[in-house]
Amino acid sequence: MGERQRKLNGIMICVPYQGHLNPFVDLALKLASNGIVITFIHLEFLHRKLCQTHHANKTDVDLFSEARELGLDIRFTTMTDPFPLEFDRDANFNQYWEAMVRDFPPLVDEFVGKILASDRNMLHFLVADTVYTWPATVARKYNLVNVSLWTQSALAYCLGYHWDLLQQNGHFPCKDEVDEEIKYIPGIESINTKDVIAYLRQSQCESVISRASRLQFEQGKMADFVLQNTVEELEPRALSALNNYLPNYAIGPLNFSLNLPTNPVTTSLWSKSDCTNWLGSKPPGSVLYVSFGSFVHTNMQVLEELAYGLLLSQVNFVWVIRQGILGDGATSVLSAGFHDAVKERGLIVGWCDQVETLSNPAIGGFLTHSGWNSTLESMWCGVPMICYPIGFDQPCSSKLVVSDWKIGIHLCEGGSLDRENVALKIQSFMNGGDLERLKQNAGRVRQIMKNAVEIDGSSKTNFDRFLKDLEAKIRAQN
Ligand code: UDX
Repeated sequence: MGERQRKLNGIMICVPYQGHLNPFVDLALKLASNGIVITFIHLEFLHRKLCQTHHANKTDVDLFSEARELGLDIRFTTMTDPFPLEFDRDANFNQYWEAMVRDFPPLVDEFVGKILASDRNMLHFLVADTVYTWPATVARKYNLVNVSLWTQSALAYCLGYHWDLLQQNGHFPCKDEVDEEIKYIPGIESINTKDVIAYLRQSQCESVISRASRLQFEQGKMADFVLQNTVEELEPRALSALNNYLPNYAIGPLNFSLNLPTNPVTTSLWSKSDCTNWLGSKPPGSVLYVSFGSFVHTNMQVLEELAYGLLLSQVNFVWVIRQGILGDGATSVLSAGFHDAVKERGLIVGWCDQVETLSNPAIGGFLTHSGWNSTLESMWCGVPMICYPIGFDQPCSSKLVVSDWKIGIHLCEGGSLDRENVALKIQSFMNGGDLERLKQNAGRVRQIMKNAVEIDGSSKTNFDRFLKDLEAKIRAQN
């Protein structure tokens, strides 16, 4: 690198979704806490959304200024994606991703080139979201060390990485009606066809996300380092198999391993309702927390069956129904009759502080879409789960939760939801004999995670090893 004392300097860019933004910001804070200079890039529309939510629409806000006040050298900038700001990326998901695959790579290329052309910023490495289709090409062009951050389970990575093996064995595309165990993938002892990533299935194999994921894993194979937001003791086989191809480092759970008093960066895309008072009025362990994350859509029929299932179950609940969950901009999704019938037993909010809610003693369970961050957060809080995976990697996370770690159950095994069954499942989950066993297992898993982020824990050790390897690679390359 020339001058030995020059600080390592990296650039970070994630895909514009809450479940990716959170671990990316956490990683930026971790890297900067270790003396690394970071330039964090938001897509302009995402920056505007954060400003709209938290800064009364003022757009010249530097979201990392508080982090810098803590002494962390994180610079912040924005770039455009292929659409105008007002384009609805959520409602036009496929159109958005067609353009992100086709038109975004040259924009990033140009943007990184401009940063490098400015002599104030000497860049050494790039941390890009594994789900992008351009990182290896851009890193190679600008001689940057290529670090890939995967924000889902190592199991999902292992499946996606081996899609060509799945194809050779007739499981890509994975026929929707077939029910078979897949036992030939390195790092995966066994996985049922119903638990594979949704976009590997026949019904979705021509979707833009399925096509993009294949490009993404081809690029991912050219990364220098892969960071996994998981814990080595929880996914040892998958990680060890992946290490045969590329250096993989399990450094999770990222949001619980920061050595900072509070997170100084605003990341929440919606404003949060405070559930604390309401939860304070409920007995310990009596409330089911229900949320389907930030990203997937569902339909009115599912919401109604869930609503009436919750009502029939007689269980207390907090339910996050975020604006846009139906994918059509509808703001009021449940009838006034339902709200009246629920009365004090249920609290419905648009968004909340999920970790704070899961940590509340009143919470006894989490009915989740099995997004990876939600899964990790529930595990960290020792809360057993009812899994209702909707798409993407979510079937893999629910497989880990139900079959491998035994800290949750499925809401339904395929097929459509029906309110009577939903009520029975919720009742027996919250009050039944299995709960003790699930809680014990959840306590064990929670301890594994806590140990991992301790001083000699696996995630801490892996992160330190990554820093050393990164520095050595940069020195060798410059
Ligand atoms: C998406 C995919 O759905 C998921 O499968 C993939 O692993 C990551 O990208 P998302 O749907 O957003 O993620 O789910 P998840 O990964 O669980 O992330 C949601 C995040 O939003 C969590 O960190 C959660 O704490 C936060 N959240 C959710 C809130 O802060 N408040 C809420 O009310 C609900």
